[in-house]
Amino acid sequence: MNDLSNYRKSYEKSELLESTIPDDPINLFNRWFHEVEDFGGESEVNAMTVSTIGLDGFPKARVVLLKKFNEEGFIFYTNYNSEKGRAITQNPKVCLSFFWHTMERQVIIKGIAHKTSEAISDNYFESRPDGSKLGAIASNQSEIVPSREFLENNLKKLEKDFESLVIPRPKHWGGFLVQPLEVEFWQGRPNRLHDRIKYSSQEDSSWKTDRLSP
Ligand SMILES: Cc1cc2nc3c(=O)[nH]c(=O)nc-3n(C[C@H](O)[C@H](O)[C@H](O)COP(=O)(O)O)c2cc1C
Repeated sequence: MNDLSNYRKSYEKSELLESTIPDDPINLFNRWFHEVEDFGGESEVNAMTVSTIGLDGFPKARVVLLKKFNEEGFIFYTNYNSEKGRAITQNPKVCLSFFWHTMERQVIIKGIAHKTSEAISDNYFESRPDGSKLGAIASNQSEIVPSREFLENNLKKLEKDFESLVIPRPKHWGGFLVQPLEVEFWQGRPNRLHDRIKYSSQEDSSWKTDRLSP
């Protein structure tokens, strides 16, 4: 048995105080995101964990890349027929979370996922390199495949079929926009007295903030 009970770290990089937070969690997310980016050492600042409730009733979490965020919410792209895509279609309540170890920060977003418009998905798909476009067509994400070779042969065939043609976005590939209902910001502090500030969306579309006990 691997005993990790002595793995212990004091968190001392920053603080999160009511006196310095904006009214809106997107502003604070934006501030934190860019601070983490500028601090350096985080190889994919936009990597986040998306948790869904599966068709089997179990939660499942996996990492995807955040591709856009603004007042409307947080966008990532995926295959709508994948396990997560089917889970979200049945139950759009999702959780997004970020762990930025460099600055000892965590953000947890509870929200509702909606498919983005075809135009938004098309725009993003068009911006991808051809290899990624063909990869999206070649992969029936989350399906069982007989071998690696099977996937590579699929890709090779598509490379031939689409040689010098425009590669269209498959209809089952696109974005999800997650509209936040709650956003929790967690800043590690010494002696396990971490800062936790939770924003909850109100009916009049303002945000309420509360400090949570660590
Ligand atoms: C760093 C990183 C970034 C990823 N980005 C994406 C992404 O943007 N979209 C996506 O569909 N899968 C992405 N994946 C793969 C997912 O984690 C996952 O394997 C895949 O989406 C299938 O998940 P599902 O079977 O639960 O639907 C990424 C994985 C990692 C580790």
